[in-house]
Amino acid sequence: MNVLLVGSGGREHAIAWKLSQSKKLRKLYIAPGNPGTAQHGENVAISDTDIPALIAFAKSKKIDLAVIGPEDPLSAGIVDEMEKAGIMAFGPSGAAAQIEADKAFSKQIMRSNSIPTAEGRTFDKFEDAKAFIATRDEPVVVKAAGLAKGKGVFVCDDPSEAILAAERIMVGKLFGDAGKTVVVEDKLLGQEASILAFVDGKSIYVMESAQDHKPIGDGDTGDNTGGMGAYSPAPIVSDAMMNQIIREVLIPTVDGMNRNDTPYKGVLYAGMMLTQGGPRVLEFNARFGDPETQPILMRMKSDLLEVLVAVCQGKLDDVTIRWDQRPAVCVVMSSGGYPGNYEKGKVITGLDAAAKLKDVMVFHAGTAEKDGQIVTAGGRVLGVTALGDTIAEAKAKAYEAVALIAFEGAYCRKDIADKAIKQ
Ligand code: AMP
Ligand code: GLY
Repeated sequence: MNVLLVGSGGREHAIAWKLSQSKKLRKLYIAPGNPGTAQHGENVAISDTDIPALIAFAKSKKIDLAVIGPEDPLSAGIVDEMEKAGIMAFGPSGAAAQIEADKAFSKQIMRSNSIPTAEGRTFDKFEDAKAFIATRDEPVVVKAAGLAKGKGVFVCDDPSEAILAAERIMVGKLFGDAGKTVVVEDKLLGQEASILAFVDGKSIYVMESAQDHKPIGDGDTGDNTGGMGAYSPAPIVSDAMMNQIIREVLIPTVDGMNRNDTPYKGVLYAGMMLTQGGPRVLEFNARFGDPETQPILMRMKSDLLEVLVAVCQGKLDDVTIRWDQRPAVCVVMSSGGYPGNYEKGKVITGLDAAAKLKDVMVFHAGTAEKDGQIVTAGGRVLGVTALGDTIAEAKAKAYEAVALIAFEGAYCRKDIADKAIKQ
């Protein structure tokens, strides 16, 4: 098969690496890709949101399957457009992707299908949001309803802080149109877990669990980022907990999306808070998580291309996925200053030495090639991922690889997977 993978992050490098192992793959293109994906296929200089150019390219190269990584093209309807052009595409329709792109829609789906989530309300007018928040004395969370690169959520400990957040989003237009509507909901306490499932419209296949590390600092301190590391499995997600999440969240969501005439196909990612009162949904994503995909795919033994095709053809029931029982840990190396301002173009050394370590993959995210060298080109630069017999071993191995890699200003958290080790 000829495959076009859309996107350029660490997630896409992991997907490209995994697809390249498929016997069914003839040619892999990645648009726009990064120097990591170029090791497994041919990068094409088309932006991941230039849907007409992506379709023209797919037609010209007789692409059999398009795999869409990021949320922006998904919510803009790239899958609908690909299918109209006769190209099989992995991912939800634009309407179904609103489960991630519009938190008001996602809350509505949860409410009408009794899916456990934080109590909350949706507001289009700042004055209404302010009046509601003023009546609350518990901590609340204020969220821009639209896509804000993981930065649209404010966890506030008192009403004045929450009102300020709503004002910055709705009046100050901090996230532009993504903040026209806000969701105000109760703050939940507990550990988070990422549950990713393949969904083919009716059937569900749940992948191994994972846990992300959103804040920049050790001990979950500081500003939220796109994710500073992840591990799989998440020991906090016992079999019983996973079954409860499948029963109370995944099945009713897929059924509810069907009843809503927005059937779901692709990866459904449930961001969960495991509270004392049971699992609650924090958010849905309409795609593979980043960086969760890096450790999850390191552990997948089956042919990813076959699974993606089965999803597109509505034949997920025929699929069984084999997993490496060993845990995997991914440590993100980022540019100094991220998630705030940072410099780019720093030369990265040690990539070859790290790649020689057994059971280690260095997934590229924000990198570029310049004059024959690999340089930094984004906030999250690399996802250094390792398998180990235990989670502690996987962690040690990942940090051993991190220690071999250097660039000016390089930063990583030192405590990735510690929560799992303590568990
Ligand atoms: P979201 O984009 O909705 O997943 O939110 C990003 C992050 O904000 C989550 O991973 C949580 O750490 C935090 N968060 C979101 N909603 C809540 C909530 N209701 N209670 C506590 N923390 C939350
Ligand atoms: N790791 C969080 C996300 O992919 O949105």
